[in-house]
Amino acid sequence: MNRRFFFKTLASVIGLFFTGLWFKMVHVQNKNRVVKTVVISLDSLSEINFFNDFIVVREGSNLSVLSSKCTHLGCRIGNVSQDLLQCPCHGSSFDRAGQVVTGPALRPLPNLRYDIDQKNNTITVFLA
Ligand code: FES
Repeated sequence: MNRRFFFKTLASVIGLFFTGLWFKMVHVQNKNRVVKTVVISLDSLSEINFFNDFIVVREGSNLSVLSSKCTHLGCRIGNVSQDLLQCPCHGSSFDRAGQVVTGPALRPLPNLRYDIDQKNNTITVFLA
C-alpha cells in the first residue's frame, strides 16, 4: 500500500462516515416532527377568520386555509382592510386567495391542509 492509496482510502472512509451521520440526523429530525392540529367549529366561522397561525376564508360553501405568516419577513397577518389581508409590518397585502397584491412580499401565502368533518361540523387544520 503506497501513501497516495492510503490517503485516498482514508478520505473516502471519512466522507462515508459524515454522509452516514448526516442521513441519520435528517432521519431523526423527520421522525420527531410533530404535526399540530387545530379543530374549529364551522358554525363559528365568518367570511375571514384570523387565528394565531392561519387564516380561514369562507366564501359560500368554499373554504381556504392560508398561513398567517407573511411571506416577506414572517409577521403575523391579522387584519383585513378594503377586502385585502394586510401585513402590519411593511405593508404587504394579499387577496382572499393569498396572492400578493402589494409588496414587498413576493410569494403568496401558503395554503394549509385541512379536513372537514361533516358529522361534527368542524374543520381540522394541519400545521406542519
Ligand atoms: S413582514 Fe409582511 S410586509 Fe414585511
